[in-house]
Amino acid sequence: SRSIRLAVVPGDGIGPEVVAEGLKVLSAVAPAHDLTFQQTDYDLGAARWHRTGETLPDAVLAELREQEVILLGAVGDPSVPSGVLERGLLLRARFELDHYVNLRPVKLFPGVATPLAGAGPDDIDMIVVREGTEGPYTGVGGVLRKGTPAEVATQESVNTYYGVERVVRYAFEVAASRPRRKLTLVHKDNVLTFAGELYQRVLAEVGAEFPQVATDYVHVDAATMFFVNQPRRFDVVVTDNLFGDIITDIGAAIAGGIGLAASGNVNPTGAAPSMFEPVHGSAPDIAGQGKADPTATILSVAMLLDHVGAPAAARAVERAVSDDLTERGALGARSTAQIGDAIAKRVSG
Ligand code: NAD
Ligand code: IPM
Ligand code: MN
Repeated sequence: SRSIRLAVVPGDGIGPEVVAEGLKVLSAVAPAHDLTFQQTDYDLGAARWHRTGETLPDAVLAELREQEVILLGAVGDPSVPSGVLERGLLLRARFELDHYVNLRPVKLFPGVATPLAGAGPDDIDMIVVREGTEGPYTGVGGVLRKGTPAEVATQESVNTYYGVERVVRYAFEVAASRPRRKLTLVHKDNVLTFAGELYQRVLAEVGAEFPQVATDYVHVDAATMFFVNQPRRFDVVVTDNLFGDIITDIGAAIAGGIGLAASGNVNPTGAAPSMFEPVHGSAPDIAGQGKADPTATILSVAMLLDHVGAPAAARAVERAVSDDLTERGALGARSTAQIGDAIAKRVSG
């Protein structure tokens, strides 16, 4: 059987609750597909920061680099200043491990309620390829004359030709592999003219190598509207780091809620491990109550299985989730663990 080194970062809030269910499903599906996971847990997050002041120490980062793949719950806690864990742990991992593709499928499963009247699974089936290492996330900028009436805060968007080219190329490859073969660039090139023009130029340049892929451009403000009233416009979307963050929460909402939205922070070169996590955060408002939906994490486990070259196991997890979702409406409220148990049972039996 194939052995895969897996790092697990449960994190904060509902992170540990949903990760436990993701691992339950992973253990259930692995044997039938001849996989074993050598798991190492990392206690990164709010508790560690309170104890030691550390977010993601160099020594832990070095260990993570030696893993094949990472499963993360969520980070962030009201007891920690905003940004300390988000930047110091999550973004540091994405940047250091060069997760330049943040893959976020937006797919309505049959039987799942969407707030979009009249929309069905055929209307909502896209994948957002969010840039993961650049844009306004880099931390370039700062504060001048803090606390005075003359205070200035700058937060610059960094966009390199290298970074834009590689994510746009990846998005073309994804689009070329899907039946509709359509790629939409979402940006704001009417205002963010420097970065927008770079993305547009690279889209045209790389697009010349993919004549079978139809390309399209939508301003991000209009895109938020079209996600809601014309989701069929979208097949594959490529966009910058911040726009991708925002539109994938809208994507989650139209596809049945944030509790179902999966993602992968992917380094397609394989030079460092990729990291899979739900799109949602640590949800402090419901943490510790067994109310969190673990489905987003379980679908992230399916993406993880695809990434490690176990597509049959990935499809088995997706099928189990899909079957669970079609019955869900009739079942009434279930706890986090009950949902995980039901899906784990389907994949093992
Ligand atoms: P959030 O996604 O944690 O919560 C938004 C809303 O969605 C809340 O009402 C929450 O209860 C609900 N929700 C989220 N996940 C759910 C689930 N699995 N099942 C049911 N309901 C769910 O976003 P937020 O409130 O903006 O942020 C809370 C904290 O999480 C902050 O510290 C933020 O920085 C952090 N955060 C982390 C990540 C990450 O680790 N990838 C992502 C987003 C936010
Ligand atoms: C997400 C989160 C993160 C992001 C934050 C917590 C840094 O919102 O994964 O969507 O903005 O990427
Ligand atoms: Mn987000």
